[in-house]
Amino acid sequence: PTPVWIAPSVLAADFTRLGEQVREAQEGGADLIHVDVMDGRFVPNISMGIVVVEAIRRVAQIPLDVHLMIVEPEKYLADFVQAGATYLTFHAEATPHAHRAVQRIRELGAKPGLALNPATPLSFLETLLPDLDLALLMTVNPGFGGQKFIPGSTQRLRELRALRDRLNPACLIEVDGGITPQTVTQVSGADILVAGSSVFNLHSSIQENIKTLRENYAL
Ligand code: DX5
Ligand code: ZN
Repeated sequence: PTPVWIAPSVLAADFTRLGEQVREAQEGGADLIHVDVMDGRFVPNISMGIVVVEAIRRVAQIPLDVHLMIVEPEKYLADFVQAGATYLTFHAEATPHAHRAVQRIRELGAKPGLALNPATPLSFLETLLPDLDLALLMTVNPGFGGQKFIPGSTQRLRELRALRDRLNPACLIEVDGGITPQTVTQVSGADILVAGSSVFNLHSSIQENIKTLRENYAL
């Protein structure tokens, strides 16, 4: 099996040293840089937008994994692709036109991802999975870093894997929220681990934190 990808979420980075922290993550073994875009409408929090994605693009050599937590994502797809998103993921709950948005991301030359909140039925993915490069399973409620992993996510991940294996084996499964060296043992089978606070906020180096996640995942 291919080794799991680690996608550090810069939401937890030190924004006064963003470029430095992105480089450190990259040199420390990150596979993607995860960028959380929040609009204060789809989620209660406001984070960063297009200009920050552009800035990260200029320092990162690894692909950007942009996670849109915004209403009417279709309005901004072209902007985020232009800003440098390789994977562009929006939420199933954020638009009545998920199918159209997926096609649009593909046309724009990026890799489409669809994210599901913890309460959204996995069956939502059935019609769209064949067209996706990534399925993002939220393992906390979106909006904030540093929250607790929702235990029921393990069973959902198992079901999502079965769905993915049946409908589109090439689609990557990403888990996002509350992933720590302790909880990472509960998401075996995921292809991509997003981690914010457990990569950027602890006492050891970014490189050390990434390494610990990888090692514990394999346990
Ligand atoms: C939550 C975001 C996550 C968040 C993860 O809405 O989608 O990407 O940054 O942060 P941690 O790893 O601290 O839970
Ligand atoms: Zn995210």
